[in-house]
Amino acid sequence: MHLGEPVQLRCSGAAVRPACRRRAFGRFQDSAVGRTVVVVLPLLLLAGLSAMAQGVQHLSVTLPGGMPGTPVMTGIQQTTNGVKTSWDGPSGYYQVWHKMNLTGSSWLMVGKATNLSRTATIPAPYSNDFFRVSGPAPRYAGAQVCAGCHGNIHASVMLTEHTGAFTNELFVQQGGQTNASCLACHTVGYGLPSGFTDAADTPQLEGVQCESCHGPAANHAANPGDPTVVPRVELAAQVCGGCHSAGFAPASVAAYHPSFFEDWSTSPHGAVVPEVLRSMASSTNSISSCGRCHSGSARLTLLQGRNPSATLTNDFSVAITCAVCHDAHAQHVWTNALNGVVYTNQLRNPLSSTNDYVLTTSAVFTNAYNPNINVCAQCHNDRGASLKVTDRAPHHSPQYNMLLGTVGELNTNVVGVVDTNAPPYYSSPHALLIADQCADCHLQAATNDASGHAFEVATYQLCLRCHTDPAGLVQFVTNDISNQIQQTKALLDMWAANKAPEALRKYGTLAWEYTTPGDLSSGGPGPDATEQGMITNVIQKARFDLYLVLYDGSYGVHNAPYDIELLQSAQGWVEGQLYQ
Ligand code: HEC
Ligand code: HEC
Ligand code: HEC
Ligand code: HEC
Ligand code: HEC
Ligand code: HEC
Ligand code: HEC
Ligand code: HEC
Ligand code: HEC
Repeated sequence: MHLGEPVQLRCSGAAVRPACRRRAFGRFQDSAVGRTVVVVLPLLLLAGLSAMAQGVQHLSVTLPGGMPGTPVMTGIQQTTNGVKTSWDGPSGYYQVWHKMNLTGSSWLMVGKATNLSRTATIPAPYSNDFFRVSGPAPRYAGAQVCAGCHGNIHASVMLTEHTGAFTNELFVQQGGQTNASCLACHTVGYGLPSGFTDAADTPQLEGVQCESCHGPAANHAANPGDPTVVPRVELAAQVCGGCHSAGFAPASVAAYHPSFFEDWSTSPHGAVVPEVLRSMASSTNSISSCGRCHSGSARLTLLQGRNPSATLTNDFSVAITCAVCHDAHAQHVWTNALNGVVYTNQLRNPLSSTNDYVLTTSAVFTNAYNPNINVCAQCHNDRGASLKVTDRAPHHSPQYNMLLGTVGELNTNVVGVVDTNAPPYYSSPHALLIADQCADCHLQAATNDASGHAFEVATYQLCLRCHTDPAGLVQFVTNDISNQIQQTKALLDMWAANKAPEALRKYGTLAWEYTTPGDLSSGGPGPDATEQGMITNVIQKARFDLYLVLYDGSYGVHNAPYDIELLQSAQGWVEGQLYQ
């Protein structure tokens, strides 16, 4: 067997990008058998590299171009029963090989060819062993070839911005079409066998296409019945991140290449909450109930009308990745609910809406799903928070309903509080005057090269349209709401100590709390399911309002007037009990 010349690296800034360095281990086109191979360093040097994640293997490397066209080593790890090697790459059969030294003996097969798992455990290796993995040589086809069988997808993908990534006027102006440092992300398979070379020879591979995200697929197109070459369907953000990363783009064009992947990676959407992971691991039911908002793989499975509790028992840990909010295949046309302006983007849901909406944990997803609700409100809603629920406080996610003022109990006996139990409820001016609602405030980028995909309010720039001193206003209002939260809590504690029914006094200041107390109290549990019935209705309403304001998390920025109505209602009720 004979190894060819190393394939030329295409990463810019290869010295600093770990993913590029990993490629530098050596990638060869094996001309004898037409397969690509990856050579791994000797075992001695690599023992102890990071452990691989459990469960289904998702793309874990970001490479310019998206889905890798050839295998890339991702890890080698000594385990009790041998050495575990992992790699990534397109679908197809891979073979692991080894030899004892690089110059002498020839490569020997280790085990059988493997598909799908892209990992192999090599039993009892020699102390100074070399490994390599060989996989299918890439064969790119171009999107036109897919159209025959995937007609609907092809038709809508053609209308996305991706299609014009090579012919885009700005790209042409910048000389991108003939600049090698631009082509990995603006064409398909550049630099790889059968990939894009230039506009004259490979026009069918211009722009971003199916195979950028799914890997080379000519073998599949020629033989769709072969299960070993069905292209990968990958939900990991790394697919998009290979191209949508500021770090990979040449510095001269930094202005066009904000840090979407980097920002997203640091955001709370970048990983599933550990507590929810544990919950999904211990109860398959949680995969569809909690997973509908917490797990990207579960949500997309539900959107396809399938049951994640049955199909994702080993694959619920994909976070809220790009493809959860963005439709990889289609450009959508929306009419803004607030100002009637028509706009297009690749999101699955619109940026704004004014109807009340909740997605409960128990509802049948397909009945509860409403595609016309604001993209953030799909998950950031009150989850069906209700006074009747006594085992735990409302969920941490009521932002949309708080912005609209559609959840909570109002005490019309308190001077100034008016119950408008009908639209427009207590909607914040922010819900009605800021055209893209959540996204306008939370996707502001602090600098030109940032993308806003940390989902933080990184600047008060937008606020200046309506407020002269937003920072001062925020400080004033958040202090005030925080104080009122503490005052309301202190009143409830007083009720617990002095006015709670005798049977609840053993709970001390937890007597007003939910069975699993919310974050304002420590210790627990609070009164059990039967004892909850002894907590007076107005105290239940007061704690409900209190936790809605707390868990909204903006301390009055979203909807200060409504927060104040809720807290004053709560205080009025508790005071009524204290001084009756
Ligand atoms: C001759 C018909 C045909 C052509 C051409 C074709 N496909 Fe397919 N494709 C199929 C069939 C049939 C399946 C379902 C295979 C299965 O489930 O085993 C499929 C499955 C897939 C899947 C996986 C779907 C899943 O749910 O796992 C992807 C991705 C895909 N094709 C992409 C492509 C791309 C990209 C091209 C063009 C390069 C292409 N196909 C060309 C027939 C075709
Ligand atoms: C092969 C590189 C590559 C991959 C992989 C890729 N993109 Fe892109 N994407 C681009 C390029 C280049 C453009 C700019 C196209 C243009 O404006 O001409 C773009 C444009 C976009 C746009 C429109 C931007 C705008 O300003 O309107 C969205 C949204 C987008 N991509 C999302 C995604 C998502 C989500 C994924 C993963 C599912 C993804 N992309 C994968 C290269 C890529
Ligand atoms: C690492 C992948 C990558 C490389 C390398 C890359 N681009 Fe891009 N380029 C993208 C992505 C992704 C977008 C879409 C960004 C967005 O809309 O946020 C894009 C967008 C652009 C746009 C803006 C298009 C528009 O309509 O707004 C221009 C211009 C551009 N690239 C030029 C270049 C040039 C010139 C080079 C080489 C000097 C280059 N790019 C190299 C990934 C890349
Ligand atoms: C920007 C990345 C991207 C591009 C371009 C893209 N896909 Fe996909 N594709 C995805 C992602 C992500 C999924 C899974 C999520 C989903 O279904 O929306 C997917 C799902 C699929 C599926 C399985 C689910 C289904 O909808 O049937 C098929 C088949 C498929 N793609 C084929 C294609 C074909 C054919 C093209 C080109 C005409 C294409 N894709 C272009 C990213 C992409
Ligand atoms: C309607 C969508 C939705 C459902 C269903 C849902 N959650 Fe959440 N959850 C969220 C959102 C959104 C947040 C983040 C809110 C925030 O941090 O302000 C969150 C936050 C959390 C947090 C707090 C994380 C932290 O950083 O403090 C925990 C714990 C949690 N959820 C557990 C669960 C469990 C367990 C389930 C299933 C029983 C579940 N969630 C169901 C939307 C949901
Ligand atoms: C929680 C939802 C969410 C997630 C997750 C998300 N995005 Fe976005 N993205 C948005 C919203 C909202 C916009 C603004 C769209 C608009 O203004 O039309 C946006 C805009 C963009 C744009 C600019 C396109 C445009 O139409 O202006 C690109 C490119 C993009 N996202 C890429 C990505 C990539 C890459 C990832 C993953 C690393 C990602 N997004 C993850 C919600 C999301
Ligand atoms: C698919 C469900 C989903 C969608 C859609 C979604 N989020 Fe989230 N979001 C979550 C979950 C779950 C968390 C909690 C993660 C954690 O606590 O680690 C979260 C956390 C957050 C946080 C951090 C909260 C904190 O306590 O630190 C912000 C801010 C946020 N999201 C804003 C947005 C915005 C803005 C959008 C729309 C562009 C959006 N989200 C869309 C589910 C979602
Ligand atoms: C007027 C601008 C504005 C609008 C509109 C807005 N937010 Fe906020 N939001 C803020 C500010 C400011 C904060 C508090 C400061 C911070 O933590 O970033 C905040 C806080 C949050 C938090 C808690 C963050 C944390 O760190 O605990 C979440 C979650 C959130 N917003 C989600 C949303 C969602 C979802 C929407 C739409 C339903 C929305 N926001 C609408 C400005 C806004
Ligand atoms: C389109 C105009 C508009 C924008 C943009 C806007 N606001 Fe507001 N905001 C208002 C209006 C109107 C009120 C209600 C004023 C009142 O009740 O006195 C308000 C109220 C507030 C309040 C409560 C003040 C109070 O005394 O009730 C805070 C805090 C606030 N905004 C912060 C922000 C922040 C931070 C931003 C930017 C992230 C922002 N706003 C963006 C229009 C806007």
